[in-house]
Amino acid sequence: MAKRRKIYEGKAKILYEGPEPGTIIQYFKDDATAFNNQKQAVLDGKGVLNNRISEFIMTQLNAVGLPTHFLRRLNMREQLVREVEIIPLEVICRNVAAGSMAKRLGMEEGAQLPRSIIEFCYKKDELGDPLVPEEYITAFNWASNQEIDDMVAMTLRVNDFLTGLFAGVGIKLIDFKVEYGRLYEGEMVRTVLADEISPDSCRLWDAATGEKMDKDRFRRDLGGVTEAYREVARRLGIFRDEQAGAEIVALETGGGK
Ligand code: TMP
Ligand code: ASP
Repeated sequence: MAKRRKIYEGKAKILYEGPEPGTIIQYFKDDATAFNNQKQAVLDGKGVLNNRISEFIMTQLNAVGLPTHFLRRLNMREQLVREVEIIPLEVICRNVAAGSMAKRLGMEEGAQLPRSIIEFCYKKDELGDPLVPEEYITAFNWASNQEIDDMVAMTLRVNDFLTGLFAGVGIKLIDFKVEYGRLYEGEMVRTVLADEISPDSCRLWDAATGEKMDKDRFRRDLGGVTEAYREVARRLGIFRDEQAGAEIVALETGGGK
């Protein structure tokens, strides 16, 4: 069997050349990092869970007319996506004060925001992905005004959709981060959702208890990280029940990666 060409390796995923031109394979690793790589761990089964959760969310977003790069899941750790040119911005949407916003403004975590707030961070690991104003984005040509408008409108639609989806299973969507790519189709270029949407990139709190069900469990040494991700998957109906989820993840992590 021929070796696949690796295009890029990030902190949580590897990208390989896809089977047809214009496609890419996203491989989800078990690696977890936080604070720009200062904290690292391997969390058995995280990649399997994020692959499934991101598949579930992207499929639903595609179905409601929000264009994404997602094509289909290939196996437990891989999905086929369209090749896009990633816009070098992290788009964050916040409903409730938490994380860096709470810290920056001296707000208590959990305070409801007056409305949903969108922030842009420049994707640059060496700089720790700094928050940037829109002026910088257009001046340095990271994205056009039209692309900024598209990203804001799409992110607010994603927020509405995800807020409802999670509320339906007893989870409060505090905030999340998404990334966008440029999809070239002949003469046309379209802004589409890219990367992943998973508990690595969202803050999810249990609606009844306030318990954290996302990567903050890892960032803040709360333990039970993959258990929380598995519970998110179970509530979304991705696994039949807790037992099935545990078995599927164990199967995939038992034999190494
Ligand atoms: P923050 O409060 O740390 O700025 O994070 C806001 C949201 O973005 C939160 O849901 C976690 C997510 N996020 C990422 O997906 N990647 C990152 O590198 C960071 C810092 C946050
Ligand atoms: N993704 C970032 C890192 O790997 C930060 C984070 O998610 O907290 O360092």
